[in-house]
Amino acid sequence: MKKRYCFAGASGRAYGMYAANILDGFSDVAEIAGVFDINPGRSAWFARKTGARIYDDFDKMMLTEKPDAVIVTTVDVFHSDYIIRAMELGFDVITEKPMTIDAERCQKILDTEKATGRKLTVTFNYRYRPDFTKIKELVKSGAIGDVYSVHFEWSLDRSYVLSGHGASYYRRWNSVMEKSGGLFVHKATHHFDLINWIIDDQPKKIAAFGKMNVYGPKNRPWKDAGPTCRECPHKSECEFYYVQSEDEIERFQNNEHYDGYKMDACVFRDEVNIYDTMSAIVEYRGGKTLSYSLNSTAAYEGWKMIINGSKGRLEAQDVETGIQSIRDTDVIRVFDLANRITEYVLPRDTGAHGGGDKRLLRMLFVGDLPDPLGHFAGSRDGANSILIGALANKSIQTGRIIDVDDEVKL
Ligand SMILES: NC(=O)c1ccc[n+]([C@@H]2O[C@H](COP(=O)([O-])OP(=O)(O)OC[C@H]3O[C@@H](n4cnc5c(N)ncnc54)[C@H](O)[C@@H]3O)[C@@H](O)[C@H]2O)c1
Repeated sequence: MKKRYCFAGASGRAYGMYAANILDGFSDVAEIAGVFDINPGRSAWFARKTGARIYDDFDKMMLTEKPDAVIVTTVDVFHSDYIIRAMELGFDVITEKPMTIDAERCQKILDTEKATGRKLTVTFNYRYRPDFTKIKELVKSGAIGDVYSVHFEWSLDRSYVLSGHGASYYRRWNSVMEKSGGLFVHKATHHFDLINWIIDDQPKKIAAFGKMNVYGPKNRPWKDAGPTCRECPHKSECEFYYVQSEDEIERFQNNEHYDGYKMDACVFRDEVNIYDTMSAIVEYRGGKTLSYSLNSTAAYEGWKMIINGSKGRLEAQDVETGIQSIRDTDVIRVFDLANRITEYVLPRDTGAHGGGDKRLLRMLFVGDLPDPLGHFAGSRDGANSILIGALANKSIQTGRIIDVDDEVKL
């Protein structure tokens, strides 16, 4: 029998990651039942593309459709509302990252899961990428011995000459701390989850710093900048000028009259209140340390990871946009203590996130792949990853080192 899924949030992610793949790839095992969104125009868009039945009430959708699970794909701050309500109504939940945006909501989710006995899955698609899977396999196999420390940095490119991915975080709700937890939560939840998973440990203490160097009202170059790119008099001079695609006009601009959600909003507008440059240090329960940095104003997109252990050091990096001549994609190097280097060159994989999304979807909808490395993630993993970011935010605000045990009972 096919499993049936409802959606909380008719988002780009709901369609692009889940619904489109159910319709084209998993239609023999899964079907789309209902969709709930506060914007009826976007629900209608989703229903046109997927055949989902539209609901204007979440409880009614769940109780009418009785799905095998609800897939939560809405704005981050609202994830906890639907995760908790669905479990209270007796349903399992699959949620997009981040599981939630702060320690208080995290505690409520964990308590509800325990009280209801329902299952919460968090879809950490980055885990399934071939490069991170290989790093996990190497560390787990003891290639560098016991892990002592990790350094991980991620850069998102600023310029539209490349992908403009870094700048894209400032045009929508992601750029509002109260909606996304900022990039320490919204984006870095992926990265903290990767580290927690690779080194098999949980964070204990967090200290952090954050700055806004390029975007936001403080950096606005023109007093008369428009609220959106399409309304701005500085189209020709602004390096962040953005033209919506036809699909974006259909999904966002044509439905603005319902809720005022504009997807080409100015990256310098007043409500932008997150950090574009941030660093954190973390002490783990097992004594390991992490130094981490995330920069969304960078010259190119990519990451570098270094893990030091009792028997050696692992280094890996990926340059995802720009600077073709130094691309060193998908090579992992392990240095032993006698100065020998072993290189692992990974085959190119196609598809989103190096083919990782495909593997995650198969685990989710078919569930027939063995999982020796523990890719499949639940609420504990969701909590440990968002807590680093949420408590990093708290550390920046208070100027203190924050202890996880003072904030949540895991
Ligand atoms: N894993 C990944 O690589 C990845 C990539 C992109 C997005 N995401 C996640 O997917 C989710 C959706 O992101 P997106 O950029 O596709 O979103 P989006 O902006 O395309 O859509 C968000 C939707 O939520 C709806 N919404 C707003 N408030 C709501 C509420 N209170 N209740 C119900 N619906 C509400 C909006 O009307 C909109 O349709 C986010 O949690 C995001 O973090 C994950």
